[in-house]
Amino acid sequence: MPIISILIPKGGTGKTMTAVNLAAALCKRGCKVLLVDMDPQANMSQALGLEDKDGEHFLNELEKVRNEMPANIANAIVTTACGLAIVPASRALSRTDYELVGTYKGSEVLKRLLEPVQYKYDFVFIDCPSAWNQLTQNAAVASDFVLMPMQAEMLPEKGLDSFYYNLEDFRKENDTIPVRADILGIIFTKFDEKKKINRAIAKKLSDEYGGKVFNTRIRWSAQLVNAQVAGLDIFSFNPKSNGAKDYDSLAAEFLGRFQHR
Ligand SMILES: Nc1ncnc2c1ncn2[C@@H]1O[C@H](COP(=O)(O)OP(=O)(O)OP(=O)(O)O)[C@@H](O)[C@H]1O
Ligand SMILES: [Mg+2]
Repeated sequence: MPIISILIPKGGTGKTMTAVNLAAALCKRGCKVLLVDMDPQANMSQALGLEDKDGEHFLNELEKVRNEMPANIANAIVTTACGLAIVPASRALSRTDYELVGTYKGSEVLKRLLEPVQYKYDFVFIDCPSAWNQLTQNAAVASDFVLMPMQAEMLPEKGLDSFYYNLEDFRKENDTIPVRADILGIIFTKFDEKKKINRAIAKKLSDEYGGKVFNTRIRWSAQLVNAQVAGLDIFSFNPKSNGAKDYDSLAAEFLGRFQHR
């Protein structure tokens, strides 16, 4: 089933927030979702109450694939207190990023690790770092689609532009590696209807990218931040909050996009 990277080469846009809470909203709607933390910051793992040592198994499995040894990602999957399946990261994933650079077919390691389990899930979400590094390239190569959470603020196009540029450059340099990574959609996060700049940029990008922009906007919400701090998804933390409503609407719209494919 589809593998979707939450990817935009820009920091702090709400990628991790969206990975966790969209996955939780989809779970509530009966979907089976696997989360993969591909960021050495391990924010997604922390946001679901996990510790650095929980991410070590993932490193071991990536290392096995890198060395052409039999690997099994099931060894690295943890089920969190709120019932989400996640492959957590550890800070040492930054070492893997460095090691993959010198590996033959180093950008296909994650794809090879996910392939055998992909069919067990309705969706696999990969939370990416904000840099275009080997870990991000691994996520792109493994992905059918890309979801781009972004703030409707100054120069958001820069993030979009650099994604297209990075991907096209990668495709040219690696013409034996097929990379799909179609943009499934752009999601506005930390949105404040009262801010003129938010309204103006949302309109500009909606005009430019048309159907690619999700109608659902994730409003700025302290409850979402508090849930992250508590190590819970928003539905486990406060199911009546605006954050829960927004991510549930996003899940409905997200599923609609797959029905129309
Ligand atoms: N809707 C929201 N309302 C309020 N704060 C938010 C919202 N979404 C995200 N944040 C906050 O913004 C910050 C960045 O969010 P997040 O970590 O999800 O972004 P990111 O794109 O994953 O960042 P990075 O590039 O570092 O991985 C965090 O402190 C998070 O709590
Ligand atoms: Mg993040």
